[in-house]
Amino acid sequence: MLTEKLEKELNKQINKELYSAYLYTSMGAYFVSENLTGFAHWMHMQAQEELSHAQKLYDFINERSGRVILEQISRPPTEWGSSLETFEDALKHENFITGSINDLVNIALEEKDHATHIFLQWFVTEQVEEEASVMDIINKLKLMKDAPGAIFMLDRELGQRQLNAEA
Ligand code: FEO
Repeated sequence: MLTEKLEKELNKQINKELYSAYLYTSMGAYFVSENLTGFAHWMHMQAQEELSHAQKLYDFINERSGRVILEQISRPPTEWGSSLETFEDALKHENFITGSINDLVNIALEEKDHATHIFLQWFVTEQVEEEASVMDIINKLKLMKDAPGAIFMLDRELGQRQLNAEA
């Protein structure tokens, strides 16, 4: 059984993961409008992963006899100045999510809920991967300095992203 506090905080995390999916879908729509279909594909895959993160939390709350309560999802931004700015925003968002997961881990420890603590370890590891993959794209974009040939190549590379069944 989850404590009331943990149930509330895990529900808040579902909302954050659903907002993440919404944000990346919006970034995908921006890239579609810029004719960068590979970048858009990468964002759509990312959005799918975020939905699966929300589902993991949903399932866990139910398994622990908690109650899932869905709240309103905020409106994401719709425009960015460049590909680099978009991915920098994605990194900022992932840093925020990492902080939120770390706070959840601390609460699980305070509440002496070891099952939730173990459950959250998957998210801790996932955040390391997510930040690293966004950082990698940012570094490439910085090196390219908007050179059209390089952007075209990166667009093709990002268009190859497959859905990770583990994430
Ligand atoms: Fe589910 Fe990108 O954090």
